[in-house]
Amino acid sequence: MVKMILDCDTGIDDALAIGYAVHSPEIELLGITVCYGMAPVDYTYRNAKKIVQLLGNDIGVWKGAEKPLVLEKEYNGLIHGMDGLGNTLGNVQPEDLVDCPSLHAVDYLIEKIYEYKEELTLVVTGPLTNLALAIKKDPNIINLVGKVVSMGGALTTPGNVNRYAEANYAIDPHAANYVYKTNIPITMVGLDVTRKTLLTTEDVANWKQKGTELSCFFAEFTQYYLDAYKKIHPYLKGCALHDPLAIAVGKDPSFVQTIPIHLEVEVEGVSAGRTIEDLYREESNPLQTEVSIKVDAERFMEDFYKNIV
Ligand code: BDR
Ligand code: CA
Repeated sequence: MVKMILDCDTGIDDALAIGYAVHSPEIELLGITVCYGMAPVDYTYRNAKKIVQLLGNDIGVWKGAEKPLVLEKEYNGLIHGMDGLGNTLGNVQPEDLVDCPSLHAVDYLIEKIYEYKEELTLVVTGPLTNLALAIKKDPNIINLVGKVVSMGGALTTPGNVNRYAEANYAIDPHAANYVYKTNIPITMVGLDVTRKTLLTTEDVANWKQKGTELSCFFAEFTQYYLDAYKKIHPYLKGCALHDPLAIAVGKDPSFVQTIPIHLEVEVEGVSAGRTIEDLYREESNPLQTEVSIKVDAERFMEDFYKNIV
């Protein structure tokens, strides 16, 4: 069993990633940490709690960063809705959740990395802000953690927020660049592979037809994401399962093929957030970054459908 923590920004595919992780028999999900990202952190916290509750689970959720390290964050709700879940939870306000643990997500991450060390896989499906803050607070964790899988970046394909950059890294490029330069063992699961794993209208209709509380709720908020994709990427046959693919790689790296590259992330200019090769990194620095370049999409989609609802 893979001992996993999911650090997410509970938008729509993050919510699907939670469902997939909880239902995967190969994963023991120890906890969920959240930060701002697709919505403000109070919403991403609320969303994660709601999904965990619907899954009939008592996995803890810890609230983390409220903003990027340097930049300011604005929200447009374009892909995930203003609340992160396709505006499906309108009547549940974040302040209704009085049970938020006082331990900050960053401290939870440090604590668990010390507890589980190389046994622990940390999957990050939002901006890398929580992880960057954890490393800044306790750099020892770089050598303790088993591995990190980060959904983000785009090496060989255009970005999704501008011509070059992918959303998670563009939101907080300073955090992403900082994390990659620390040489923590990390696998990038970027748009190069996640754009090949598409959920279709028929798939979502099947969840609706299944008729359980969980499958209907998943269908309801995923429909918002599907509709947004239809408008923005009309040439695609569905919506990308970015974050669930990162979970899959966390439990079984053979879902993707990777190449080792020293990566850096541009922090300024029109292409801020773009992942590029760091050609000038010192040779003595051990190469710890693997970048996913190919995916066995068929095998992943099969595993995802089998486990999701
Ligand atoms: C990433 O940004 C968000 O829209 C998704 O949840 C995913 O983590 C894809 O660029
Ligand atoms: Ca996400």
